[in-house]
Amino acid sequence: HQEKTKVKNIQSVELGRHEMDTWYYSPYPEPYASCQKLYICEYTLKYFRKKKTLLRHLAKCTLRHPPGDEIYRSPPAPANDPTYVGGAVTSPPISMFEVDGKKSKVYCQNLCLLSKLFLDHKTLYYDVDPFLFYVLCEKDAQGYHIVGYFSKEKNSAEGNNLACILTLPPYQRKGYGRFLIAFSYELSKKEGRVGSPERPLSDLGAVSYRSYWTREILEVLREHKASLSIKDISERTAIRTDDVVKTLESLSLIKYWKGDHIISVTQKIVDEHLKTIANQKNIDIDLSRLHWTPYR
Ligand code: COA
Ligand code: NA
Repeated sequence: HQEKTKVKNIQSVELGRHEMDTWYYSPYPEPYASCQKLYICEYTLKYFRKKKTLLRHLAKCTLRHPPGDEIYRSPPAPANDPTYVGGAVTSPPISMFEVDGKKSKVYCQNLCLLSKLFLDHKTLYYDVDPFLFYVLCEKDAQGYHIVGYFSKEKNSAEGNNLACILTLPPYQRKGYGRFLIAFSYELSKKEGRVGSPERPLSDLGAVSYRSYWTREILEVLREHKASLSIKDISERTAIRTDDVVKTLESLSLIKYWKGDHIISVTQKIVDEHLKTIANQKNIDIDLSRLHWTPYR
């Protein structure tokens, strides 16, 4: 918690076409730490004190996507309807890359330094080897532009399926955070286990998870009516049972009887809850376009 007491150093960063005001202190090395503004290559995430130096770097830089495997690509719009928007189709198209902290150490360290500018209390910057980084990008004719990411331990003793999550500020509140969370649970389903995010969650992290859990659980309840146990819900969603219980409690859909949890819900209640969240921004994941096998 030492970082919390440190004064925010870098006030803004330029990344691709965006200039962003920073939120928190980040331990960039000197002399970069003393700069008001950093210029960052959106592909390598290398940082510079002067625009001129960034431009010189960009002239030589051939990377146009994160240094890893493209494991997901959103489906193209149906040919007969180029204006079609919805489901898993996005405009611009999006992709997810898996980057190995051990193989692409400097990139992942740079990603952690960048993300710390928007995170209050994370401690990981340099020891990136034990993590995989799932980087979300929007694609256009120039290349793949970083939108956000989440990190995940290769082997989590606590069963965490996500360590750190970020949507860069220009891309926030468009449903990308929810997409990243959903993606982390899809990976858990492929592993055949349940997962949960590393604690503590930030306020924005907690809001995003509560929203995701609520919708997932209500949709499972709508499909299967009241005949499901907590364990059934957990197995279908890969959401850990204590997170399922907490979410049901917050919706007042759970009762206790002789020390057991009883889900107490009617179809009408589920439909009413789902109606109130109907205008959420939701980017579906087309599972046929996810090409991934668990880390071994
Ligand atoms: N105020 C209130 N609600 C907010 C919010 C804000 N500033 N930002 C997001 N939300 C809500 C959205 O309304 C949405 O809820 P809904 O689906 O019920 O409408 C939900 O959170 C998810 O929104 P979404 O657009 O999918 O998320 P995002 O792309 O903005 O990303 C974070 C969410 C948490 C990843 C993003 O805020 C972030 O990167 N924050 C900084 C880093 C951080 O705190 N990470 C979490 C560490 S545990
Ligand atoms: Na935080």
